[in-house]
Amino acid sequence: IFIFYIFILCRLSLGEDSDCDNFTDLDFHESFMGTYLYVRLLLYTRANLECGQELPHHNFTQEPLFNVSRPTTFVIHGYRPTGAPPIWINLIVHLLAAQKDMNILVVDWNRGAANLNYFTAVANTRGTAVNITGFIESMEKEGASLDSIHLIGVSLGAHVAGFIGAMLGGRVGRITAFGLRGTHGHIDFYANGGLDQPGCPKTIFSGKSYFVCDHQRSVFLYMCALNHTCKLMAYPCSSYSDFLSGQCLQCETFKPASCPALGKKTSYRVDLVTWNQSLRWWVVILRLYNGKNVIESQIDTFEQYTSTRLLAQFDEDLYPIQKISLRIVTGNMIGPRYKIRLLRIRITPLENPNRPLMCRYDIILEENAEVSFKPLPCD
Ligand SMILES: *[C@@H]1O[C@H](CO)[C@@H](O)[C@H](O)[C@H]1NC(C)=O
Ligand SMILES: *[C@@H]1O[C@H](CO)[C@@H](O)[C@H](O)[C@H]1NC(C)=O
Ligand SMILES: *[C@@H]1O[C@H](CO)[C@@H](O)[C@H](O)[C@H]1NC(C)=O
Ligand SMILES: *[C@@H]1O[C@H](CO)[C@@H](O)[C@H](O)[C@H]1NC(C)=O
Ligand SMILES: *[C@@H]1O[C@H](CO)[C@@H](O)[C@H](O)[C@H]1NC(C)=O
Ligand SMILES: *[C@@H]1O[C@H](CO)[C@@H](O)[C@H](O)[C@H]1NC(C)=O
Repeated sequence: IFIFYIFILCRLSLGEDSDCDNFTDLDFHESFMGTYLYVRLLLYTRANLECGQELPHHNFTQEPLFNVSRPTTFVIHGYRPTGAPPIWINLIVHLLAAQKDMNILVVDWNRGAANLNYFTAVANTRGTAVNITGFIESMEKEGASLDSIHLIGVSLGAHVAGFIGAMLGGRVGRITAFGLRGTHGHIDFYANGGLDQPGCPKTIFSGKSYFVCDHQRSVFLYMCALNHTCKLMAYPCSSYSDFLSGQCLQCETFKPASCPALGKKTSYRVDLVTWNQSLRWWVVILRLYNGKNVIESQIDTFEQYTSTRLLAQFDEDLYPIQKISLRIVTGNMIGPRYKIRLLRIRITPLENPNRPLMCRYDIILEENAEVSFKPLPCD
């Protein structure tokens, strides 16, 4: 009996662990040296909730657990400064499986997301999206319906999800972007434009908070999803770029229901016309002042248009605005600081159409240098 018992134990431990494919676990050294993008797909279903199976990108029909007739949810993580696996993966997998019998594909792009340089991870979002788009197209060839595909992106993963949505021409069933704002513990869809959170420092020079931030976010994600106590805001949108450009905030979409959760926040559409914009990637930090208080929003832009439309959201509403400041940041670590000539900035309040639009004309922005100005009425 004793020998039998040991035999069972061995079988169990072998069957439970070594056959499972785990999320790529990198160490700090690898993150420091930088990693090349490599995208893995880890499949979880109700039959293997505790034991992920790596799904090949091609030839996946041979995996018996993967049934393309079922709905498929892709879970896409964000920036991984330390290279460690996100602790919330297991949880979200369980929560999803409890909802519906589906394929859950954890997109493991840790090689690509783990990098001390945040902007390298940003640059890898597009490659990840191209890869997953290719996979979804193969799924479609095998009979999967795009309607039944759901993309869930967390922080930078939201960008990936948005790109995939755009590459598939908005035909994906649903895109959800998660993020956490500050420490309020509420989760938004498309929170803060899906960028890594304002509470999370971008560089290692910020010390300990750099490492705990993501951890906190996952705890909140966990709590919120589990006890439904936090406010969820959903903006249905055909693509992430549409969302960023403020096109999905029109409340007509929701009629006759009221516009979800916009009241909690103040949103502005920001239209920038730049004279020259050869920058591939930049962040705009927009601050509004009313004499007493300051609120800040960070908006990331990817495209190179002479005319750019962005969405800025703030937790509070400061009115009237007496001063506005702008700062641009790029990933450029070495070399000269970029300068951009802004021919016009126009800021349109979205919830309060009675308030005046604010404009300014001809401003030179130098990287990392904050430029302040009084808003003028627009012509
Ligand atoms: C996956 O993780 C489990 C638990 O940490 C471990 O026992 C197992 O060896 C890992 N599997 C592989 C293939 O590395
Ligand atoms: C899957 O890959 C194997 C080995 O590369 C190949 O022999 C087989 O024909 C492939 N199956 C399908 C369905 O493509
Ligand atoms: C795949 O899923 C569909 C829908 O749930 C089900 O009818 C079918 O039997 C499944 N196929 C296999 C091989 O399990
Ligand atoms: C995605 O990445 C995997 C791993 O590198 C590769 O095997 C696969 O061909 C890629 N798919 C596409 C569509 O690029
Ligand atoms: C739900 O989770 C939040 C976030 O951590 C927590 O503050 C709250 O107490 C929880 N509510 C219940 C009813 O468990
Ligand atoms: C944009 O134009 C300004 C002013 O004309 C110039 O100083 C700056 O170097 C240009 N920036 C880029 C990125 O080309």
